[in-house]
Amino acid sequence: MVVRPSVLDRALRPLHHWVWRDPHRCARKLLRFADTEADGGRDISRAAELTPDPLLRRLYLRHAHDELRHADLFRTRARTLLLSLPRAHASFEANWLAPGERGLDDVRVGRGEDGSLLAFLHLSEKAAARRFAMYRQVLAYDRETQAVFDEVLKDEVYHMSYTRMQLARVAAQRSHARLRQARLGRLWKAYLRAAAALASVLGTLLLRLQYFVILPPFALLARRAQQREPEGFVPARSPTPLGSQY
Ligand SMILES: [Fe+2]
Ligand SMILES: [Fe+2]
Repeated sequence: MVVRPSVLDRALRPLHHWVWRDPHRCARKLLRFADTEADGGRDISRAAELTPDPLLRRLYLRHAHDELRHADLFRTRARTLLLSLPRAHASFEANWLAPGERGLDDVRVGRGEDGSLLAFLHLSEKAAARRFAMYRQVLAYDRETQAVFDEVLKDEVYHMSYTRMQLARVAAQRSHARLRQARLGRLWKAYLRAAAALASVLGTLLLRLQYFVILPPFALLARRAQQREPEGFVPARSPTPLGSQY
């Protein structure tokens, strides 16, 4: 199955290109992706422990193993990149522009919740596969990192397909309702992420505005007041507390 980037990601291609073109930022993103994949792998291993369904247990274990392998692939590539680069410099991260597989969403794993989990995993894997398809396109100049995304993408497509098939088996007629529910949950989390990113940008802007626009007039007034003081003027001293002069 060929996975294509979403329409939105295709429209934002220049932005993705800009995010990934800095090799330091690229390495840090790969390290963050490695953490996300490893977290996902642990959550899915937990789901394998809890499910009463033997087929799902086997599939979850394979899935968890894949995610841990992805974590290794991302981490190894990030280390290789970092070792080949000069000292790191500070750069704009823009994590909210290029999230990893599940972004900030955590998989919720509970006993008897295979339907909801499969719906959530299906949507997450689909989003990840489309995002990774975009990343591999904008990384055309870095063949080695691109090869890592190629490798991971194959597994994500498999995860996307098996979760959809198993959802149809486990939840039968309720599979559409589960998907709708999971989609709403993801939308709410996306809204929270966007709101947090906007609040952070606005907070930084307001602080800069205070520093560069509001503070300078006060500093100027204070300097003028100091220049206007007559020569030999000694500012009043605070009274000495009784008894301390002896
Ligand atoms: Fe993965
Ligand atoms: Fe995956």
